[in-house]
Amino acid sequence: MAQLLAIIGGTGLTSLETLSISHREMVSTPYGEPSGPLTHGELGGKAVVFLARHGYGHTIPPHKVNYRANLWALQHIGVDQVIAVAAVGGIRADMEPGCLVFPDQIIDYTWSRGHTFFEDDLTHVTHIDFTYPYCEELRQKLIQAARHAGLDAREGGTYGTMQGPRLETAAEIMRLERDGCDMVGMTGMPEAALARELDLRYAACAVVANWAAGKSGGKITMEDIQHQLTGGMEKVEILLREVVALL
Ligand code: HPA
Repeated sequence: MAQLLAIIGGTGLTSLETLSISHREMVSTPYGEPSGPLTHGELGGKAVVFLARHGYGHTIPPHKVNYRANLWALQHIGVDQVIAVAAVGGIRADMEPGCLVFPDQIIDYTWSRGHTFFEDDLTHVTHIDFTYPYCEELRQKLIQAARHAGLDAREGGTYGTMQGPRLETAAEIMRLERDGCDMVGMTGMPEAALARELDLRYAACAVVANWAAGKSGGKITMEDIQHQLTGGMEKVEILLREVVALL
């Protein structure tokens, strides 16, 4: 089967300006409904499928996203690699709002999310290897694309995934920092693990929307986040155009 790339868009990326859309496809899954129809189109001359993680009207909060249905649906239609775009808060000193990050590790602090395909009707118990949660080959392509395009990007870091939807306390961010987290978001898991369970090549592009709680002194407002994301997503569109050419 031909290679097919999916892009999962997060907060601030419910559509891709540069995608010329051919059609939308509804997929039913054994896990329920995905976040919306899959949007098929072309980006830089290559077939791409787009899915808005929080729904096209941005109505599904991080803990209510049906991650299993989303990934199952993508694999069902022939997707074999996924680039996940997600907004994060910056913890490490060089993760300032507006920059892109290609994380290489994850710590999962979420709970009660449908987090595995391996739980019912098993013939044997399965434990996937998740030492390196992202596909390194795809991650390197993102890094290469960012360098080509001259985009301000951090080439590694640990993504702490919190339950949300509230933002964190300053003490929680200090704890995440002690744990080794460089950025904090709400959707990195179980998405990455489910992709691995399905053997999909999966890498993430995080967009730093704000300083994490307690890192800038002030309150975090949705207006500030939105403002940073607008600029950040313009960079993401440039990055995606570059990366499809490399795949
Ligand atoms: N915390 C968690 N998730 C986020 C943040 C944050 O500060 N910013 C954007 N997504």
